Amino acid sequence: MQEPKASQRDQFVSKVGFILAATGSAVGLGNIWRFPFLAGKNGGGVFVLFYLVCVVVLGFGLMLAEFIIGRHTQLSSVDAFKELDKRFTFVGVMGVLAAFIIMGYYPVVGGWSVAYVFKIILGEFSTDAVIMGEIFDSLTKGVGSPIFWTAVYMIVNIVIVAKGISTGIENASKVMLPMLFGLLIILVIRSLTLPNAMEGLKYLFVPDFSKISGEVMMAALGQAFFSLSLGMGCMITYASYLGKNENLVENATVVPILDTLVALLAGVVIIPATVSFGFDLDSGPGLVFVTVPAIFATMGPVIGRIFGVIFFSMVVLAALTSSISLLEVVVSYLIDNRNWGRKRAVVITSIILFAICIASSLSMGIWSKYTVKGMNIFSLLDWIANNILLPLGGIFITLFVGWFWDRDKVKAEVTNNGTVKFSLFNVWIFLCRFVIPIIIALVLLRGIGII
Ligand code: PHE
Repeated sequence: MQEPKASQRDQFVSKVGFILAATGSAVGLGNIWRFPFLAGKNGGGVFVLFYLVCVVVLGFGLMLAEFIIGRHTQLSSVDAFKELDKRFTFVGVMGVLAAFIIMGYYPVVGGWSVAYVFKIILGEFSTDAVIMGEIFDSLTKGVGSPIFWTAVYMIVNIVIVAKGISTGIENASKVMLPMLFGLLIILVIRSLTLPNAMEGLKYLFVPDFSKISGEVMMAALGQAFFSLSLGMGCMITYASYLGKNENLVENATVVPILDTLVALLAGVVIIPATVSFGFDLDSGPGLVFVTVPAIFATMGPVIGRIFGVIFFSMVVLAALTSSISLLEVVVSYLIDNRNWGRKRAVVITSIILFAICIASSLSMGIWSKYTVKGMNIFSLLDWIANNILLPLGGIFITLFVGWFWDRDKVKAEVTNNGTVKFSLFNVWIFLCRFVIPIIIALVLLRGIGII
């Protein structure tokens, strides 16, 4: 058994530092890019409703479970399970694998976002669907340019993670989050004052139950996991850097609320504008990149450019604070488990990931003919990680806390040895034992067509 390594471990400097870093991990492309395009594609209101149910029922409970595992052991996910119960080590390993797979395409979208900062400066925006589609395709279907932008994105990522936890991650989150909120609110106002915007708002929030299906539910479940950074040990790893007097219940409440707010704001910016411009709601991963610049086009060349540059810079920053947490999952595994040095772990992992990213990027263009069940490499990686691995991780993490971990120890950890009040403790345990694993299992089985 390994000793907890609290004393040697870099820790978050301040309380706000941790909320910001955890929210920074949660808020990313998942909220601004993935949520709106999935909502557009999966029937709007029903998807959003089911997503919100998942966030409320699973989000808080699972996040708290991950927080206590991380803080109790002060170890990253694989070692944490190894120490607590060897039989669950595979859950940690599955999480590292999921982080690895997500990092095989996330930087590609991060790269598109960097590229759009420059496209906006050059004034490449319009309210014409054809023009916007061409701008997006010329970037994503090419070979050299998307790979170049992916590389730019990854290098920034590497530098931050190589520097270690508190400096890089905290500083980035501190500036980014408040600015992102402010900007999204301005854009909500712009979007909702476009002609016909109310139709889009209805599409987003009024559920049409005829559109519900196993696939839609699975997509919503996967999105909840992805957006909250759950099911893969990311929050375990972050919480392992946490001091013993932090209020975990409060953290596990605040982080999902902030994350969901950002996703909903992004949805309210993008879906109504898409409807108003007459763009295709079903356009998939390109939706944000096609619709948002068109909103800037309605603001005129100067103001549009200013807001556009700020917006896509925010998206890049939000993406970075998430992908550094993903990379951190893999890197801390190598450091804690394989005794690698931080720099070596970061560099070697990144090189392999970059190769996978190249394949994902090409699968949007010249490799789009290679598909599995209609999914290209990019979508396949996304599907395996978010719709399968993360929910599976969620099942085992909650089962572990609910059934296999000594109840008194769990209680002591959640309440900081009785100093923090948590009146819903029994409800939460009930969620972990039954509700969360059962809901996830049902949705998974339904989503892959078994029931
Ligand atoms: N939550 C991040 C986002 O929304 C992505 C992420 C998933 C980060 C899993 C860490 C772990 O973009």
